[in-house]
Amino acid sequence: METALTRMLDLQYPIIQAPMAGGPTTPELIAAVSNAGGLGSLGAGYLTPDQTREAIKAIKQLTERPFCVNLFVPEQPNGSSSAIAEMNGRLNRYRAELGIDPNPPTPASIETFEEQVQVLLDERVPIVSFTFGIPSLDILHAMQQRGVIVIGTATTVEEGMQLEAAGVDAIVAQGSEAGGHRGTFLTPANDALIGTMALIPQMVDRVTVPVIAAGGIMDGRGLVASLALGASAVQMGTAFLACPESGAHAAYKSKILSSREDSTDITYAFSGKAARGIRNHFMNSMRSYPGTIPAYPVQNTMTRDIRQAAAKANNPAYMSLWAGQGTRLATERGAADVVKQTIEQASALISSMKKAIPKP
Ligand SMILES: Cc1cc2nc3c(=O)[nH]c(=O)nc-3n(C[C@H](O)[C@H](O)[C@H](O)COP(=O)(O)O)c2cc1C
Repeated sequence: METALTRMLDLQYPIIQAPMAGGPTTPELIAAVSNAGGLGSLGAGYLTPDQTREAIKAIKQLTERPFCVNLFVPEQPNGSSSAIAEMNGRLNRYRAELGIDPNPPTPASIETFEEQVQVLLDERVPIVSFTFGIPSLDILHAMQQRGVIVIGTATTVEEGMQLEAAGVDAIVAQGSEAGGHRGTFLTPANDALIGTMALIPQMVDRVTVPVIAAGGIMDGRGLVASLALGASAVQMGTAFLACPESGAHAAYKSKILSSREDSTDITYAFSGKAARGIRNHFMNSMRSYPGTIPAYPVQNTMTRDIRQAAAKANNPAYMSLWAGQGTRLATERGAADVVKQTIEQASALISSMKKAIPKP
């Protein structure tokens, strides 16, 4: 199971637990995966710099193994005031259904990306991954000068090539099966829905840095397939969401465990950015929205009160239930078991495949 990436990141196994912003990636989940020989990752995209620092300190208390912190490359908030007003009117419908106040003041989104980067540098985080774009060369150089390994996220070969040209050390190739937000940054997200099976070998052929396969990988079969396609590791998100260590809401976990391969869809409705999640009332109802959904992060901020009220009421109909297409394979096992069983299954598969190949 040794690959270019396990050597680069000093891992026992080529398994990365995906960063999952919004609560699932607790210090306990991250440490369990890192201690089991994989790489745990903190999704810090929605955290303040202070919360990021606290989470990193908590992870360091629980593991001495390498771990990763993931940030969102910021985007310019835009959205015309008329589109925002129209959306607010629509969202009041869901607020009424949930029994919460209409027209909440929209909190200004405060940009803290540079401060977060500084926290990661101060705390000497060994591995940093980014999604939604390419960080500035200043940031990339500052990190690499301090020995930080930098990973970028691509959903097309062109994005991968641009990340490599910018100087990242490895690339997550995110297939369309993947749960959560699309990392697409060069084209409209709907033009970049390439399945993992097609994306990985084409990416591997065009970049020289190690490629990490993401999207629909849930067990040893997915790991072996990814390695066969040329990936140096896998990044698994949905497979860890229902673990006891995951901070996902109980109602969300139970939706994951009862979903099928056809339960998810890509939506802009929650955040203004394309993301894959389990279909629910909010997603279905927003399909008929005739106006323009304000782009991320504006829409994300506008739906926050709805998502928070839904979580409080244990009502998954209005929660963002991000998940990939592999949900039938999700289990409630502990995170260390997910790593262990993935490796055991992959090893058994590799040996049986070796036996099946006739000797020359
Ligand atoms: C709940 C959830 C939240 C996610 N949040 C992030 C994130 O903060 N940063 C990121 O780079 N990727 C994020 N992703 C995407 C993962 O990195 C990865 O591409 C995806 O989980 C792989 O597909 P899978 O869920 O089928 O394993 C998220 C995925 C999920 C399911």
